[in-house]
Amino acid sequence: MSGHDVVLYGATGFTGHQTAYYFDAHVGDKLNWAIAGRDRGRLEAIQASLRHPVPVIVADAHDDAAIDALVESTKVVLSTVGPYARYGECLLRSCVTRGTDYVDICGETVWIKRMIERYHDRAVQSGARIVPCCGFDSVPSDIGTWLLVDHFRALGKRTRSVKAFFRARGGLNGGTVASLAAAMSSPDHNQIDDPLLLNPPDERTAREAIRSRDPILPVLDADLGHWVAPFFMGPINTRVVRRSAALAKLAQQTYGDEFHYQEYMNLGPNLSLLSSTIAATGTVLFGAVARVPAITKFIESLAPAPGEGPSEQTMDEGFFECVLVGQSEDGATAWARLADDGDPGNRATVKMVCEAALALAIDRERLPRQAGILTPATAFDGVLAVRLADAGMQIECPMAER
Ligand SMILES: NC(=O)c1ccc[n+]([C@@H]2O[C@H](COP(=O)([O-])OP(=O)(O)OC[C@H]3O[C@@H](n4cnc5c(N)ncnc54)[C@H](OP(=O)(O)O)[C@@H]3O)[C@@H](O)[C@H]2O)c1
Repeated sequence: MSGHDVVLYGATGFTGHQTAYYFDAHVGDKLNWAIAGRDRGRLEAIQASLRHPVPVIVADAHDDAAIDALVESTKVVLSTVGPYARYGECLLRSCVTRGTDYVDICGETVWIKRMIERYHDRAVQSGARIVPCCGFDSVPSDIGTWLLVDHFRALGKRTRSVKAFFRARGGLNGGTVASLAAAMSSPDHNQIDDPLLLNPPDERTAREAIRSRDPILPVLDADLGHWVAPFFMGPINTRVVRRSAALAKLAQQTYGDEFHYQEYMNLGPNLSLLSSTIAATGTVLFGAVARVPAITKFIESLAPAPGEGPSEQTMDEGFFECVLVGQSEDGATAWARLADDGDPGNRATVKMVCEAALALAIDRERLPRQAGILTPATAFDGVLAVRLADAGMQIECPMAER
């Protein structure tokens, strides 16, 4: 029986408690929602600090019976319990089995790939909409691309390519570092290099894999008119956007026959070749050394512990900007921009995942009729963009050419 509209699983964690306060401030008593986690005492402390106290559900991530009861109690689960490769499967499987909708802020692409192989077809059958990657990775990339594709579609055009350029400042969560370390210690972690990792098997070609390889060098971008560098989150976001394009094609709503997506870090118009080379080298080196277990352990020892994260000041002073340029198959160009104040890994991520859960709970009839292991774009299309804009995110598509 679905008594709750949304259950926030992991409400005691660093991002989890922010989701509880977001719901408290923006939803209040307008929906039936609950907070959940493994520790009753800590959940009750959060419950007591809410303006609208909500029920508490206790469930350890590995306790099948407790997780099933949690999933049966709600229409939508929002999970911030990570590393997902360690704690996520039992919950995801239960949602798939029961046809319960699910969102998370996972960026662990190799785990997502495994979940697609195990559960996508079953989720299609049960009608569950399972939507990982609803945080900073990968909502701006995926929804921004969808907006440009939709813009061209409205003009009767199909899209040839989209590039995204990111600027961001923020802090680091202990949970994020733990998830990175868990991902890198997995025996199949080298799969992260596969540019089409999340594409269905029929939507993978050797040619596309080659032209979609992650950039490792600075690029003088012709549209921006200055140097850009590889973006450290590109190996996550690009896989998600390419899955969106592949699923759209399978649903007879192709982005474009030869659609191509890539993204970069935008360090500003004054960046010289030398400084963009330094930035590119830093990103590529980090990607390489993070695979060495001893170095990952060292990074973990310096970083905040799970449950910890940046100060309020750091989170308040952060921001992100994602500028995208799309080209239609007939050569027209259009720009889009998504931006927000606050640490992208916390403030913007919490806004994105909470609004994604609310879209599933409130706007279900207006969402695309797709089930399975989806992406933000395939699950929400423009509905999430409208919600995020209403919640204060700056979203422009098309924007005036830069
Ligand atoms: N996409 C993005 O932009 C983005 C941004 C931030 C974080 N993330 C990801 O989100 C996840 C959470 O990050 P975080 O910083 O919030 O981490 P965190 O503070 O360490 O929170 C982890 C949560 O998992 C819970 N947990 C751990 N073991 C459990 C178990 N056996 N059963 C049930 N719950 C359990 C913890 O409960 P206790 O409180 O009881 O220990 C806590 O609520 C990470 O995977 C991180 O990578 C993504």
